[in-house]
Amino acid sequence: MNIGIDKIGFVAPSYVLDLADLAAARNIDPNKFKIGLLQSQMAVAPVSQDIVTLGAQAAQAILTDQDKQAIDMVIVGTESSVDQSKAAAVSIHGLLGIQPFVRSIEIKEACYGATAGLSLAKSHVAQFPTSKVLVIASDIAKYGIASGGESTQGAGAIAMLVSADPRIMVLNNDNICQTRDIMDFWRPNYDKYPRVDGKYSTEQYTDCLTTTFARYQEKTGKSLADFAAMCLHIPFSKQGLKGLQAIAQGSDLERLTERFHEAIVYNQIVGNIYTGSIFLSLLSLLENSQAIQADDQVLFYSYGSGAVCEIFSGRLVEGFRDQLDSQRLEKLEARTRLTVDQYESIFFEELQVDDQGNAAELTDTAPFALHKIEDHKRIYRKG
Ligand code: CAA
Repeated sequence: MNIGIDKIGFVAPSYVLDLADLAAARNIDPNKFKIGLLQSQMAVAPVSQDIVTLGAQAAQAILTDQDKQAIDMVIVGTESSVDQSKAAAVSIHGLLGIQPFVRSIEIKEACYGATAGLSLAKSHVAQFPTSKVLVIASDIAKYGIASGGESTQGAGAIAMLVSADPRIMVLNNDNICQTRDIMDFWRPNYDKYPRVDGKYSTEQYTDCLTTTFARYQEKTGKSLADFAAMCLHIPFSKQGLKGLQAIAQGSDLERLTERFHEAIVYNQIVGNIYTGSIFLSLLSLLENSQAIQADDQVLFYSYGSGAVCEIFSGRLVEGFRDQLDSQRLEKLEARTRLTVDQYESIFFEELQVDDQGNAAELTDTAPFALHKIEDHKRIYRKG
């Protein structure tokens, strides 16, 4: 049975910060971000947007009422969860009005979580072929003002509908994973922002890729010549390019580098969305490459600090372009550009919760938004 991605959607918050403005404010050469990191902008989420509202918006953009009746599993991958107990998938299930007989869960393993969700969704559909599974990758990447990772922040959510006979991509059964118990990027429960061993994390990203790819080749007999494009986890675009350069040579490197630049168009202007970054790169490839075509094979490298990584692949389906949004770049370009002062106050605003567990009502006209906190409960509003 062919199982894979039937639909894919994406949403970013409506604010954006230009990294040239950030560089000027931090007294850094703008080329460090533009050339050194290959990044130009970052998406900025206001306090009324969180992983639940972003995830719900991304899913709402692709789901029909029929889909909502057929979905029997909702999976949210995230590392910027709003609750230590209740899964964001449960809140999103409620906001979207999906039929009640559903398994809803949240998966955490840094930027790898949604990839695990995709594999779980595939196994579920293999067992129950008429099922549809909603897989959401939703994150707000926040490192702190003037922190080492500040220029690589971002926010956004990807939603994918996984089903039999998918209309975008069939997922192959060639997954190879690796787990390494390392401390390259983590966030203790008492910390607002992650702790990062920046240089070590970049080395681990590449070493996990080269060693897992060697194993992938050994186990599957496939080589880079089999692939038209490669999508990698993109914490910042230069990291992905370095990963590609670590495993590809000659004409493979030339071909995959051309596709790589098409696959980072959105990542460069959104920033890191952690577990959704690899799928934002897929969406960018699908919507910005004229070179790819049906039956092309795409290779993926998913990396989550801590660390778990996975290499897997998929095949593009005839007619995949009919499922895409040709206006997405224009919509992203229409976001409100913030000054650095505005970014600092909007992105780092925190709700003031009083002794009774209440916080003031918020106004936000987005399709889904946090309305208020009442009795320690987050109350969402559907627009
Ligand atoms: N013009 C052009 N290039 C310049 C430049 C200039 N004026 N100034 C600096 N550069 C280049 C540097 O040469 C360097 O390029 P190379 O790596 O190719 O040599 C690049 O810009 C970055 O410079 P630095 O290494 O000096 O930058 P930094 O010390 O500020 O650290 C970072 C960069 C470690 C990535 C930091 O942004 C960080 O900690 N980020 C968060 C962690 C992260 O993203 N890790 C990635 C792997 S882990 C992962 O993937 C999970 C995840 O999502 C977090």
